[in-house]
Amino acid sequence: MIKGRIAGIGSYVPENVLTNEDLSKLVDTSDEWIYTRTGISNRRITKEENTSDLAAKAAEKALENAKISPLEIDLIIVATTSPDALTPATAAIVQNKIGAKNSACFDVLAACTGFIYGLKIANSFIKSGDYNNILVIGAEALSKIIDWKDRNTCVLFGDGAGAIVLSKTSGDGISSVDIGTDGEKNEYILCKSHPINNPINKVEKDILGKMSMNGKEVFKFAVNIIPRLINKLLEDNNIKIQELDYIVPHQANNRIIELAAKKLDVDVDKFYMNLEKYGNTSSASIPLALDEMNKKGLLKNGQKLALVGFGGGLTYGSSLIIWNKN
Ligand code: UT7
Repeated sequence: MIKGRIAGIGSYVPENVLTNEDLSKLVDTSDEWIYTRTGISNRRITKEENTSDLAAKAAEKALENAKISPLEIDLIIVATTSPDALTPATAAIVQNKIGAKNSACFDVLAACTGFIYGLKIANSFIKSGDYNNILVIGAEALSKIIDWKDRNTCVLFGDGAGAIVLSKTSGDGISSVDIGTDGEKNEYILCKSHPINNPINKVEKDILGKMSMNGKEVFKFAVNIIPRLINKLLEDNNIKIQELDYIVPHQANNRIIELAAKKLDVDVDKFYMNLEKYGNTSSASIPLALDEMNKKGLLKNGQKLALVGFGGGLTYGSSLIIWNKN
């Protein structure tokens, strides 16, 4: 059966490091609070590079890793919550930056689950026979939508990008991708666009919003949805949890993962974490972690990886991948 496989992977983070110590000079917080409540020590924040710059750099590395030319890319999907602009799509800007002029381009907004949503769309296009090579990029310059006076959110997030080339195969690859949304909870993670401001409804201040979050509710949602998604993935693919080599979760909070592991009755070490260095990079977090695993030589053909994500929407998603990369 035709499906997608990850033929190339790459990532990029801006060079500026913002430590917990640095944050304690901006808001009433401490390294101790941030580290013990989340597991985060550092995050990267961009100075001049926008989301499309981070995305293009990750994409170029993924193309190099896949050993294919940008001209062979049929479609670029950028998953982002922090696009360069409301229009054009960040994917179109990336196309221009990397010279992938034979590709169609669009963005996906599914917050921290964006990469898994992008993977679902890309895999479906490949299965349909329409496309052979698709770039799926998770990229965020979240620092521009953070309220740097709000200690509830500003300590959590970071900037970065991860990209994969998904290519057609009749062998191992993407076995399943499952996505969903609980729209009743849409206000739990919020960053508003312009208010309605037109000749029949004038507003005094027309500004773009900053991010706000009901952290406690998102925490509860995440601790419940991760085991539910993993159990469904195991059932749908008729495998046991012991057969999974790694679970690669959205990197939001170590305590969420510890509680989810407990519910699943599985060793927490099965979850690959790199949150400490990068914080929560939203749609970039899963491909950033996957690229790090690949560079460390942890990934071998035939291994079973489960991706699992959750975030604004509230969206959620999972994927089973049988690793198959040259
Ligand atoms: O990608 C998906 C997006 N988001 C998430 O996954 C976030 C999920 N939620 C979380 O990770 C956690 O809820 C947080 C890390 C955001 C917060 O941890 P918590 O253990 O739920 O803390 P809390 O909100 O219950 O706050 C406990 C106390 C409060 O003080 P009082 O009311 O007990 O006096 C907060 O005001 O900690 C205070 N607090 C802080 N103190 C120092 C909140 N943020 C900070 C801070 N530094 N940065």
